[in-house]
Amino acid sequence: MPQLTPEKLEQLREAATAAAKHAYAPYSGFRVGAALLLSDGSIVTGCNVENISYGLTICAERSAVVRAIAESGLKRKIAAVAVTNLEGAASPPCGACRQVLGEFVTQDALVYFADGKGGMTAVPFAELLPHSFSDWKSDARH
Ligand code: THU
Repeated sequence: MPQLTPEKLEQLREAATAAAKHAYAPYSGFRVGAALLLSDGSIVTGCNVENISYGLTICAERSAVVRAIAESGLKRKIAAVAVTNLEGAASPPCGACRQVLGEFVTQDALVYFADGKGGMTAVPFAELLPHSFSDWKSDARH
């Protein structure tokens, strides 16, 4: 998809930040929010949910994907993603989230993430996860 309009990006960023306020992050203190813009124009959000085991923590991006599927049976409909945090840091999606997003993004999806300087960096998903494992069967699935 082409770059979002400044208004749409602001809406997506605000949705991500609102979700970050609900983050459960008592161990890291790093509160993250993600907002998915779906092809139908709707927005679905998620936040990180930590666990005392540490390893069972779920990131904001993956919690948003899980929610989107539960709500609407998502099938490769994520057109854009925004990831923000309440700590003023840069927050590009981690590797695990890139792999999970890769299952559901449209071919030209854009990912926006906080740059740690008050702005958002925009990167096409294909550049965030090049040569992704899902490529070989992407036609067969949807
Ligand atoms: N986190 C996310 O929510 N998304 C990412 O892409 C990277 C990390 C969370 C996980 C953990 O709760 C906290 O940030 C610190 O790593």
